[in-house]
Amino acid sequence: MTEIKNAHLTTLKGAYDTELMEATLRIRRWDPDTQRARFDTFTVTVPVTASVLDALDAIKDTHDGTLAYRKSCRMAVCGSCGMRIDGGAALACKTPMKKFVDAGHTITVSPMGNLPVIKDLVVDMAPFWEKIRAVKPYLDTKDEEVPDTEWRVAPEHGDMIHKESLCILCGCCVSECNSMESDPDFLGPAALAKAYRFVGDTRDTDTRERLRDLNGAHGIWDCTRCYFCNQRCPKGVDPRDAIAKLGAESFKEGFVRDEGARHAKVFVDSTFKGGYLRETELVPKTIGPVNAVKDIPFALQLARAGKVPNPLSPHKAKDNDEVKRLWKLLEKEAKGAERPRAQHPDAVREG
Ligand code: SF4
Ligand code: SF4
Ligand code: FES
Repeated sequence: MTEIKNAHLTTLKGAYDTELMEATLRIRRWDPDTQRARFDTFTVTVPVTASVLDALDAIKDTHDGTLAYRKSCRMAVCGSCGMRIDGGAALACKTPMKKFVDAGHTITVSPMGNLPVIKDLVVDMAPFWEKIRAVKPYLDTKDEEVPDTEWRVAPEHGDMIHKESLCILCGCCVSECNSMESDPDFLGPAALAKAYRFVGDTRDTDTRERLRDLNGAHGIWDCTRCYFCNQRCPKGVDPRDAIAKLGAESFKEGFVRDEGARHAKVFVDSTFKGGYLRETELVPKTIGPVNAVKDIPFALQLARAGKVPNPLSPHKAKDNDEVKRLWKLLEKEAKGAERPRAQHPDAVREG
């Protein structure tokens, strides 16, 4: 550990005129020249109001100018400062240092996951942008002329995509996505949240094509529903919820052939029949009876371990009629609900 010179302190005191504290950070360094990683630990004096980003700035200013990380707005708006803090992605500028100092805890700061590291805490965002581009992140009104005047969206239509519109493209969700870790080609939570931003836009006329593409390989059904993206998103976008909405829209458009879609359908049908999931139907109905035969040895292993319920007497909820009533109510509502459309400004003027 290296002692910090206090040249920075005067500036900090002048700028913030506040109480100071000593913060210790353990930082993963990556040297692209030697291709070697190491951890460095620094202690810096910062205001009690300092964020993790302020502490990194203090380290860079007073101790090691070669430390590399991204930043810009310092107010959770630009999305530049995503990094792992104690193993989970977060915005450094939105994470206060004080709680760690008070707990006597040395945080470990490392680069985001699922993206190649360029230097220290800087990752290559090229694969991230490639996926955002792949979902056509712009309005497509191909069936209608683009109006000269503002195309207003009713507040209730705006609400439908409000959360997804909050995305600042920081990559924190991507960093912690389990599915991307096993399949780097999976579109991933940020791109899929962006996709819903346009699928749900009542001015867009490309819905069916968008959903068809999203139902392809590496698309929505490859999400493992781990919910880490929701947990890590600093802006409340809830990408997993956006993926669920894309699934629901896909069902409405009749895209149900993907194994993931069939898997989801077994859950829905099972709950209708018995109020619970019928595990023994899950595999054959998802991958088809022929493919399921290959899994018989594994199924026998599970059965020996007492993990396969009796298929002839599946468990059933006590008040299954109530479940069925709810199920039918939801189905009726979904069938009756037409996709809302924003009125074209020309139509409004003519009307
Ligand atoms: S819920 Fe899906 S998209 Fe979100 S992190 Fe998990 S696997 Fe990735
Ligand atoms: S969805 Fe959230 S975590 Fe993911 S890129 Fe957008 S703002 Fe960042
Ligand atoms: S510096 Fe802009 S989001 Fe943190």
